[in-house]
Amino acid sequence: MKPEQFPAYNCDESYQWNYDHPPALPEIAVPELSGGWKFCGHEVSSPLGISAGPLLNGRWCCYYARLGFDVLTYKTVRSQRRECYPMPNLQPVSCGQLDGTQNRVLPSKSMQGTWAVAFGMPSASPNIWRADIEWTRQQLSREKVLSVSVVGTMQEGWGIEELAADYAQCAKWAVESGADCIETNFSCPNVNTCDGQLYLDTKESAVVSEAVKSEIGNTPLIIKVGHFLDREAIPLFLSAVDKYTDAVSMTNSIANRVGVNDSNLMFESQPRGICGRAILEASLRQVRAFSQAIKERKSKIEVIGLGGIETAMEVTHYLSAGASACHLATHPMVDPGCGIKIRDHLAKHPLP
Ligand SMILES: Cc1cc2nc3c(=O)[nH]c(=O)nc-3n(C[C@H](O)[C@H](O)[C@H](O)COP(=O)(O)O)c2cc1C
Repeated sequence: MKPEQFPAYNCDESYQWNYDHPPALPEIAVPELSGGWKFCGHEVSSPLGISAGPLLNGRWCCYYARLGFDVLTYKTVRSQRRECYPMPNLQPVSCGQLDGTQNRVLPSKSMQGTWAVAFGMPSASPNIWRADIEWTRQQLSREKVLSVSVVGTMQEGWGIEELAADYAQCAKWAVESGADCIETNFSCPNVNTCDGQLYLDTKESAVVSEAVKSEIGNTPLIIKVGHFLDREAIPLFLSAVDKYTDAVSMTNSIANRVGVNDSNLMFESQPRGICGRAILEASLRQVRAFSQAIKERKSKIEVIGLGGIETAMEVTHYLSAGASACHLATHPMVDPGCGIKIRDHLAKHPLP
């Protein structure tokens, strides 16, 4: 099978089409929850949010806000326009639970809860997203939290200081436009190695967090991390970023190559982030490990659990593992009503 013959998710619409065609705003009753939920100092009506990715612009934020999600994470933006990778951007895959040791996952013809995500973090130009964030904050009610995800864009000849300044510039613009929180995506290539990830380099993570925090002042800072294969690295990471960050969000995805065999790999043989059902157990284990390490440090960092949440059952598992909020990306794209269903269940079966 040649790469172009791999079954691709049947999606004629491009990223741009989706950007320009958000769904009409639904009129739907949202079940109320008891519990006095908080997110980075903001009072919210549930632990539910949408993580960075599905909310391409303000109109997408408003759509999911009406569907029972209280924290809306505006899709990762950059200091300059960036095109999307070619399709397929979403490739369903077939695999069991991933733990980061697998070599490859199989492409699948149909969506079974897990897919490889390959957009390359596209971004509108800053003048567009800054105006749109301002509009979004005005549209959302005060009870909804607008978190904006930012990432630095590496340029030739740059070192970590320049990359940190680029992250900080995006964060500053987002706060000026009305963001309630900033999320820095550290699950992206770092300076020293093209296949490395910023969150795996404690020194560079500290440099970027410090630069962002010094620009955003009291606005809460969330750091989004990927999967830690080495549990020993978790306390080191926390000690590097503790004084700058209010929350850590995990797990972004688990990277893997996609193909029917090792000589027929998609995405030019490069790994892509696997998201959805197959990363649930590894993400839960990581939330548990972070929560434990945070407790041992007597730190106030909050943990946002994400990865494979579909129903109220996974939400309760994340909360029991130590998360104070639960965010979703894949499942609300497949079933936009899942937030209402989760709230309905939690309203009938309140958490202890
Ligand atoms: C369509 C899509 C786009 C995504 N884009 C981003 C992104 O721009 N920035 C980011 O930090 N994470 C991005 N993610 C990762 C999600 O925020 C989330 O970490 C991941 O999907 C795991 O959650 P899930 O299992 O509920 O999908 C994206 C995920 C999906 C499905």
